[in-house]
Amino acid sequence: MSAQATAVGQPSTSAKKTRKRILTGDRPTGKLHVGNYVGTLANRVKLQDSYDTFLLVADHHMLTTRLDRLSEIEQNIRDDVIDNLAVGVDPEKVNYFLQSLVPQIPELHLLFSMLISVPRVQRIPTLKDQLRDHGLAQPTYGLLGYPVLQAADILIVKGDLVPVGRDQESHVELTREIARRFNELFAPIFPVPESLIPEMGLLPGTDGRDKMGKSLDNAIFLADDPKTVERKVMRMYTDPNRVRADTPGRVEGNPVFVYHDTFNPDKAQVDELKTRYRAGQVADVEVKRLLLSALERFLAPIRERRAELEAKPRLVDEILAAGSERARREAAATLHEVRQAMRLDYFGR
Ligand code: TRP
Repeated sequence: MSAQATAVGQPSTSAKKTRKRILTGDRPTGKLHVGNYVGTLANRVKLQDSYDTFLLVADHHMLTTRLDRLSEIEQNIRDDVIDNLAVGVDPEKVNYFLQSLVPQIPELHLLFSMLISVPRVQRIPTLKDQLRDHGLAQPTYGLLGYPVLQAADILIVKGDLVPVGRDQESHVELTREIARRFNELFAPIFPVPESLIPEMGLLPGTDGRDKMGKSLDNAIFLADDPKTVERKVMRMYTDPNRVRADTPGRVEGNPVFVYHDTFNPDKAQVDELKTRYRAGQVADVEVKRLLLSALERFLAPIRERRAELEAKPRLVDEILAAGSERARREAAATLHEVRQAMRLDYFGR
């Protein structure tokens, strides 16, 4: 009888607990681009109904490479939130928070930094990329710890699934190691999270480089106006060996066709264009024109939504304030368990 009463009384809380949790986020380094959409935003929108979703704006992570550009942070935070909402992230469904408003994250980062060796973090491939992109000879202590801080972001809310672009895979792998290590050494507190990486891989830049980057001058931004998108598409890198429209062209690895595959829902049209391109029966200009219309069909509603959101100046602040409050509650509960497991709870904190 009492067992039954408990079972009946449970659903509301247990239903919440059995829902798996997503944690992912962005550094507030500027407006988001279509590569970010493919890499992670699309998955956020798709999964927000089935997962308890936490999104963070990682402003502490931004400090690792942009100490000279702090004046931009506030605008970048706003742009990040607005871009996410404009593509369909629903603030009623997800919990959107600001990393620096959750002080439990740096505390967990400190504890995690004891569990991982310096050579292990030095081997993470993104470190070399960051040093190269920012022209640095040596990382700061903070930049070296970047992926450890990311592990703290994920595990402070006990994230199970981390939708990210392929370039972030090594960070989630480190997070898994830290979770396993902690669980083994102290107490089984953390899930061992999985990354969710889109099959298609990274969207190339408009210049044909492997990766579209905010600061690489090869990105189409979600907020770009139609004229800008047109200019970028018409100048896009294609098959460099194709000098004339009647030269057979290469479709594989050609960014114009990668974009068609990604953004043009008319598969029959894409197939037909590929056949004609390979046979030297279509001009690059025509292929690009059709790509432009497909991209515009995708971007126009996002732009419209963005304008609506920008007309509500308090919205972003309200979303982040409420989300950070909930994140702090979750974080405090996790950290309480961590302190107990590590015997750091002398005063019962
Ligand atoms: N490092 C991620 C990026 O540059 C941003 C990020 C910070 C993140 N913390 C995270 C992503 C936690 C996923 C989970 O894109």
